[in-house]
Amino acid sequence: MRAAEIGRRYVDFFAARDHTVVPSASLLYNDPTLLFVNAGMVPFKPYFTGAEPAPFRRAVSLQKCVRTLDIEDVGKTTRHGTFFQMLGNFSFGDYFKAEAIQWGWQLVTGSQADGCLGFDPDKVWVTVLGPGMHPDYPNGDEEAVHWWRSVGVPQERIQARSLKDNYWHMGVPGPGGPCSEIYIDRGPAFGPEGGPNADEDRFLEIWNLVFQQEELSAVRAKDDFDVARQLPSRNIDTGAGLERIAFLLQGVDNMYETDEVFPVIARASELTGRRYGANADDDVRLRVIGDHVRSSLMLMTDGVSPGNEARGYVLRRLMRRSIRSMRLLGYQGEHLTELLDVSRGVMHGSYPEIDEQWQRISEISQNEEQSFSRTLHAGTALFDLAVGQSKAAGSDVLPGDKAFQLHDTYGFPIDLTLEMAAEQGLAVDQARFRELMTEQRQRAKADARAKKGGAVSTEA
Ligand code: ALA
Repeated sequence: MRAAEIGRRYVDFFAARDHTVVPSASLLYNDPTLLFVNAGMVPFKPYFTGAEPAPFRRAVSLQKCVRTLDIEDVGKTTRHGTFFQMLGNFSFGDYFKAEAIQWGWQLVTGSQADGCLGFDPDKVWVTVLGPGMHPDYPNGDEEAVHWWRSVGVPQERIQARSLKDNYWHMGVPGPGGPCSEIYIDRGPAFGPEGGPNADEDRFLEIWNLVFQQEELSAVRAKDDFDVARQLPSRNIDTGAGLERIAFLLQGVDNMYETDEVFPVIARASELTGRRYGANADDDVRLRVIGDHVRSSLMLMTDGVSPGNEARGYVLRRLMRRSIRSMRLLGYQGEHLTELLDVSRGVMHGSYPEIDEQWQRISEISQNEEQSFSRTLHAGTALFDLAVGQSKAAGSDVLPGDKAFQLHDTYGFPIDLTLEMAAEQGLAVDQARFRELMTEQRQRAKADARAKKGGAVSTEA
């Protein structure tokens, strides 16, 4: 089943149950606590906290999301994507655990002929908040267990877990509550028995049902936060990973091989002559390309341009990591715009705004690729020399002074130096790098102060 079809089924299922269909918000939705939208509930946050009255009691959406915290894991696991689409059904003080669980079960295990997803009920596991974790749930989330039992999930496939796994909040102050997750058992070839508690690769989480009930004033960790107050109503916030459902239903091994990502990998493989599936390192690079090209396309569509700070830097890093991966696969030619166009071909059916922005996107991409080529060309000689010197000296560290010089003279961001050094088996003396950066900033400030005061610095 194609990813877009999965999205359609989910939205139709809840639309038929009186949910208002809400189009995806921009990735740049204005929430001062976030760089990008990273969950389906973000645009609805004011309705959960009561800061704004909800214009509907129930909603369903397919929301574009970007999360780049795990960027280093992209391509190495089955399920880390920097861009992904989160399906969600929401209740603002309307239905609660009973309906959320019954509908979740029905959509996941109902037959495909009836418009559902058709997972085998015997392969479904669920988790709930366990006993002694939260003052409101001394015996654990018995209500959630009750509803899972009532739809037919056997007790042995319901696992109780800690706040770390079964309490959801935004990572910053905002709404939160206990949650219950739906997992699919991919089978013994993928890991040991024992449910999600034992192995989260074999047992893959596809859907998180959050029972939002309180507002948090401070968040220190997943399981360490302060509760400010009970929310004005009991709400439902769910998030199902479209890419994960797609890879399970498409019978492939990971999210990069799904219909919305793989065409980019296939084209990159043609250009580089490296066959996907032939070599583990090449495969990681091809998957990085598949993931990052799509994320870059979606970010540019929503108005981000590459830059040196905040959102612009995230985009620049994605584009550059992808360009470097192509080079590491042996391809030196320009390619980014072509790969973005392949991604456009699979994504524009769901997101027509890509076509409206395409002219701008292709210009940005050409400029970025050319300027990065110049940067790489200029800095690589120095980098290679520095690596050679470290190795000749028997050291496995690249000096901070060299990293600073690469940054200062050739515009190598530290991430790039770190990655290139790691490929050579070297660490970077980051403490020294930071020291030099601080000194440079202080010099710049002193210069600015001197200029403002009309004085002339006599320092060399
Ligand atoms: N907001 C919840 C999540 O992102 C559903 O997992």
